[in-house]
Amino acid sequence: MEKFELFENERATAYDSFVKNWIPNYNVFLNMIPHLFNDSTNDKLLAVGCGTGNEILVLKQNGYNGSIMGIDPSPEMIAQATHKLKDYEDIVLKEVLVSQLTIDHQFNAATLILVLHFLKDDGDKLDLLRDISIRLEPKALLIMLDITGNNMEIRKNLEILEQLLLPDMDQNEIAKRLERIYLELHHVSEQRIIELFTEAGFEEPTKFFQSTIYMGWMARKKN
Ligand SMILES: C[S@@+](CC[C@H](N)C(=O)[O-])C[C@H]1O[C@@H](n2cnc3c(N)ncnc32)[C@H](O)[C@@H]1O
Repeated sequence: MEKFELFENERATAYDSFVKNWIPNYNVFLNMIPHLFNDSTNDKLLAVGCGTGNEILVLKQNGYNGSIMGIDPSPEMIAQATHKLKDYEDIVLKEVLVSQLTIDHQFNAATLILVLHFLKDDGDKLDLLRDISIRLEPKALLIMLDITGNNMEIRKNLEILEQLLLPDMDQNEIAKRLERIYLELHHVSEQRIIELFTEAGFEEPTKFFQSTIYMGWMARKKN
């Protein structure tokens, strides 16, 4: 069974305010996504780890008229996504892991936003990327946002992240969270991201966005 990090209780209910406070330029990144999936070659999208549905909402608000399947292992996150997206059509939300989807259903676009860094680089990251890749048509585009960098880069970018946080945030909470990011989340170097994508069946990924520790990547499934 594929590994996952379950978002539940306050971590789920407070997620939307958390993500805005803690990830500088999160909305800037999200607002790029509709421009990147803007034609009929990207009209069957799989949003892996869609959480409360932020990436799906920005696509639908910007006129994306393809079909979207959003999946997430957390029932609480899926419940919020269901509520948030109730006015939009062609969206299916499921409380499942990618590995639980049939491979007969193929997609031509995918997102993996803020998920991969929860998985260890002991085969779990590769498994998730492979599970996505085998459900994609050749040349399908995957867009990812993830904590990326070697230890030194992460350390330096965490200092910058700290400077960008809102001044009224609790200082103890900031210290605890920055420590957790450094010690407990499974960030890997840019080079390792490139290796993982290519091993999983993607062409070499392109880094197209960075805001402190968060990097945006895109890659096409190999032919
Ligand atoms: C930080 S949230 C990101 C949510 C959303 N993508 C966003 O940008 O707002 C991470 C989400 O990934 C989900 N998750 C954790 N492990 C997963 C896995 N192995 N496969 C898919 N989703 C996973 C969690 O339940 C959570 O909802």
